[in-house]
Amino acid sequence: MARRSVRRVRRPVREEKVAAPRTWRGVIEEYRSYLPVTTATPVITLREGGTPLLESRLGERYGIRLLVKYEATNPTASFKDRGMTVAVSKAAEAGARGVICGSTGNTAASAAAYAARAGMTCVLLIPADGVALGKLVQAIACGATLIRVQATFDGALDLARAAAARFGLTLVNSTNPHRIAGQRTAAFEVCDALGRAPQALALPVGNAGNITAYWAGFSDYQKAGRIRSRPQMIGVQAEGASPLVQGHPIERPRTVASAIRIGRPASWDGAVAAVRDSGGQFISVSDDEILAAQDDLAREGLFVEPASAASVAGVLKLVRAGKAPHEVVCVLTGHGLKDPEVVQSRAKLPPPVPATLEAIQSRLAPRSP
Ligand code: F0G
Repeated sequence: MARRSVRRVRRPVREEKVAAPRTWRGVIEEYRSYLPVTTATPVITLREGGTPLLESRLGERYGIRLLVKYEATNPTASFKDRGMTVAVSKAAEAGARGVICGSTGNTAASAAAYAARAGMTCVLLIPADGVALGKLVQAIACGATLIRVQATFDGALDLARAAAARFGLTLVNSTNPHRIAGQRTAAFEVCDALGRAPQALALPVGNAGNITAYWAGFSDYQKAGRIRSRPQMIGVQAEGASPLVQGHPIERPRTVASAIRIGRPASWDGAVAAVRDSGGQFISVSDDEILAAQDDLAREGLFVEPASAASVAGVLKLVRAGKAPHEVVCVLTGHGLKDPEVVQSRAKLPPPVPATLEAIQSRLAPRSP
């Protein structure tokens, strides 16, 4: 064993030099003064938020600065946890018996986890078909009551609203203002990381709660004097589920990106105001463009679900049209493991080989001379 030289310690070691980096406490404690909580609010948290803002290599390739807000590192692997910690904490404060929501899967998984954390019951109304299995597994594991409804997401949400009133449960869809309040923290984090607001922010839009929340977050940070300007908001929808692009509801929304298969966004007005007041735009992308962006991101280690890749697909479409901002943050809303079906259907598992170096070598690409 190599001997280490021992240096004489002249001064006591300063505490801050050896202390572990400060632990992230979850969005309520980190942004308490911006949230509708008091000392009487029980904090139901899984230490959500504090997600990385990363530079993407795609920016270099396309000649812009492209950053991604990687929301997959949240406790249930989607951005929904930011709003859910606030909504469930407020429900607990109000003495709620349980929570309910309609969902394409991620809200359901998040509600199930936070309700379990709070010791509440959780009822989930899910479209009978087309919801990614990984999300339902999360919800079932956390002990939620899962009800598959013969309806689209829009029908399930209508029913959830009515059921909340009938059965005395708290609705935790993004129509609950506490969800929006919590999701604003993502905008705060982007600004805190950059020291200012980005030129533009692109995100996938389904029920339109998140775009409403980001815009509220940037606006509140500006009012508080934390940033000077606000970004252009770019709302990206899948072509077959693009009511905000087309300007009218879609009866039968279709897209491979099941999380945003929504025809009648509940926060329609909030989304329209965000795009209008920021000088931004709504755009739609094809399923092929979404899956290509999903591949591109995975090739740099960012495995996201198809819906999440829509933000990047939208920006790349603007680049090709010569209309892209020079700096944009794309929100990557959820993890690829939640919805692996499409990738799985294209990837073939290779047959096994004997445990020898020769067998390994035969599988490696021949080296270039
Ligand atoms: N990305 C993912 C991964 C989502 O799950 C959702 C929405 C969105 C984007 C769009 O966000 O609805 O605020 O515009 N999922 C909801 C759910 C509808 O039930 O999980 P939005």
